[in-house]
Amino acid sequence: MNASKDKVIEKNKRYVCPDKIRIFNQIGIDLVIGKREGPYIYDLDGKKLIDVHINGGTYNLGHRHPEILEALKEGLEMSVDIGNHHFPSPLRGEVAEMLVTLSPGEMKYCVFASGGSEAVDIAIKSARHATRRKKIISIDNGYHGRTGLSGAVGNAKSAAFFLSDSPDCSVTVPFNDISAMKNALAEKDIAAVILETIPATLGFPLPESGYLAEVKSICEQSGSLFIADEVQTGLSRSGKIWAIEHFGVAPDIIVTAKGLSGGMYPMAAAILNEKAGSWLLEDGFAHVSTFGGSEIGCHVAKKVLEIVSRQETLDHVNNISKYLAASLQTLREKHSHLVEVRQCGLIAGLKFEGEIGAVMMSKALYDNGVWAMFSGYDLSVLQFKPYLFTDKALVDELMEKLEKSIVQCAS
Ligand SMILES: Cc1ncc(COP(=O)(O)O)c(C=O)c1O
Repeated sequence: MNASKDKVIEKNKRYVCPDKIRIFNQIGIDLVIGKREGPYIYDLDGKKLIDVHINGGTYNLGHRHPEILEALKEGLEMSVDIGNHHFPSPLRGEVAEMLVTLSPGEMKYCVFASGGSEAVDIAIKSARHATRRKKIISIDNGYHGRTGLSGAVGNAKSAAFFLSDSPDCSVTVPFNDISAMKNALAEKDIAAVILETIPATLGFPLPESGYLAEVKSICEQSGSLFIADEVQTGLSRSGKIWAIEHFGVAPDIIVTAKGLSGGMYPMAAAILNEKAGSWLLEDGFAHVSTFGGSEIGCHVAKKVLEIVSRQETLDHVNNISKYLAASLQTLREKHSHLVEVRQCGLIAGLKFEGEIGAVMMSKALYDNGVWAMFSGYDLSVLQFKPYLFTDKALVDELMEKLEKSIVQCAS
C-alpha cells in the first residue's frame, strides 16, 4: 500500500466512518477507489478490479458511460442547474413522462427524490394518505433504505438501532410465505406491502411461481397498495425494464433510484398510480424536496432511460444473461462449494458453503481482481451483478476468477 492510500484510509477512519473501515479491514479489504471506467475500478495503488457490486445498480451502465458523461456536459452547457422544485420544468416533465410510460399498469405521476430511501419514504407516505391507514408490511430482513420510514421497515435490528421501530412499520413476514402474508393482511388495516421484487440484501432469493401475483391480489382484496422497490432490480438489469414485469404484476407504486443517476448525478423517484398519487391533487406542498428532480440530474436520467429502454440494450442483456447462466451452471456442477445460483437476467446471488461463505469469497475475489460484495443479511450469498454491457469475454474472465477463488475458499 502506498503512503497516500494510507492517509486516505486514516482520514476516513477519523472523520467519516470508523466502524466500516474496521470491518473491511478485518476482512482484509482495503479498497480506495481511484480511476474508474466501464466495468472496472482501480484501487489507488493501481490494482484493477472488475466491479460486479456496481453499488447495487448505480453503475448499471458501467462507470462513466460516455453517453452519460456527454449528457452531463450537455446539461451544464444548457445553463440549467438544480432548478426550483416549486415550478414546472421541461426536463422534469419529460423524465416523469418517460418513467410513467415505461412502467406497467396505469401509472400516472412521478415524485422525484434525491435518493432511494427518500423515494421509499414518499411511497409509504403516498400509500398512507391514499388508504388512510398507517401499517406497512415488509419482509423479514428486507432492506429499503435508512431514512425515517424506509429505515423503519424490513430488518428489525436496523430499525431498532436508531429507535425507528414502531408497531406500524415492524410487521414483517417471511419472503415467499403466502399464508403469512394473508394473515398479516387479514384485518384490512394495512396501507401497503413493500417488497423488493428480488430482495438484494437477503441474497436475491427468487420469488416462487405465483407469489408476487398472489400478494398483489390479496392487497387488492384488502384495500392495501403494493409497492415494488425496484431500486436494485429495475432499469433493465433483469432483461425487462422492471423485474416485476417478469411476474405479471402491475404495482400501485414503483420506486427507482441508484441506476437512474447514471452513476453521475443523484436521482430517484416514486412512480404512482392514480390512487397512490391522490395527494398530489389535494396538497402539492405535502411533500417537497429541494434536490428531488434536479434539472441537471433529469438531463442525465433522460439519457439513462433512453439507453436502458433501447431494444438493443434489452436484447443484449437477455443474450448475455443466458451465457452467464450456462457458465455459472458449469461452475456449480464442478464445485460443490458453490451451493446455489439464483439468477434473473444480470441479477445473481451465489450461495456458498458456510455461514460466512460469501464474505470469504468477497475477499478471495478481491485478491483475484473482482469486487463483489456479500449480502448484508445473508453472509453466505454473494451479490453478483455484472453491468449491462458485459460481453462474453468478460463473463469468461469472471468465471476464471470465480473458479480460482472458489478453489482457494474451499480448501
Ligand atoms: C432495495 C433498496 N431500496 C432502497 C435503497 C435505498 O437507496 P439509497 O441508498 O439511495 O437511499 C437501497 C439502497 O441500497 C436498496 O438496495
